[in-house]
Amino acid sequence: MPRVQAPALLPGSVNGFLQPVLEVDDRFLLRPWTFDDVPVVVAAYSDPEIQRWLPYSYDALEAAQVIAKWAEAWNTETGACWAIANRSDGSACGRLAFQTIDLISGSAELAYWVLPQARGAGATTLATEALSNWAFTRLGLHRLELHHSAHNETSCHIATAAKFELEGTLRSADLYSDGWHDTHLHARIGR
Ligand SMILES: CC(C)(COP(=O)(O)OP(=O)(O)OC[C@H]1O[C@@H](n2cnc3c(N)ncnc32)[C@H](O)[C@@H]1OP(=O)(O)O)[C@@H](O)C(=O)NCCC(=O)NCCS
Repeated sequence: MPRVQAPALLPGSVNGFLQPVLEVDDRFLLRPWTFDDVPVVVAAYSDPEIQRWLPYSYDALEAAQVIAKWAEAWNTETGACWAIANRSDGSACGRLAFQTIDLISGSAELAYWVLPQARGAGATTLATEALSNWAFTRLGLHRLELHHSAHNETSCHIATAAKFELEGTLRSADLYSDGWHDTHLHARIGR
């Protein structure tokens, strides 16, 4: 069925240019994933705290496949995935991604993890702010969402610090290894 209302973003708004490297601060940047990052992805998804909230596990072959999938998301304009990397040597210490992008509504949903040894340095909060600002000004996205288990207090703290207002609680919305959790819906609107 043809739409009578134009989409918020036209096709090509994302994949019309190469996925960029984004500045975060003097310690971190956001860069596209490469196959050199396979060991980082394997290590991340074997960390108990990451597995607790993001229940996946990858061997080296699967990690390479998932990195290819993350790159493909940019090409199909269905998502966009960056490594949070140390500026000093380019090594990846985390992931920040638009898990989904919806051109019609001009919206996207964020997700993140950081390796245990890199936590507490502000990488996620600062990278989330930098990516959000870029997405509003350069991509033209209108609304960014962030969903997390209501038990994930660290994620709630980061969402609030990155100016994603808590809009509500989705009751018993996601299944974890210890059962159903309520999900917090945070969002930030581009002005
Ligand atoms: C959530 C995660 C990405 C945070 O990464 P990080 O780079 O350490 O985050 P930051 O350093 O930017 O910020 C952490 C903040 O949370 C705060 N924090 C840490 N533990 C907390 C807790 N239990 N309750 C509330 N706040 C907490 C810290 O004090 C810090 O806030 P501050 O900068 O105001 O002091 C990381 O802990 C992680 O990978 N966790 C496992 C995966 C996960 O939960 N992903 C999110 C799924 S929705």
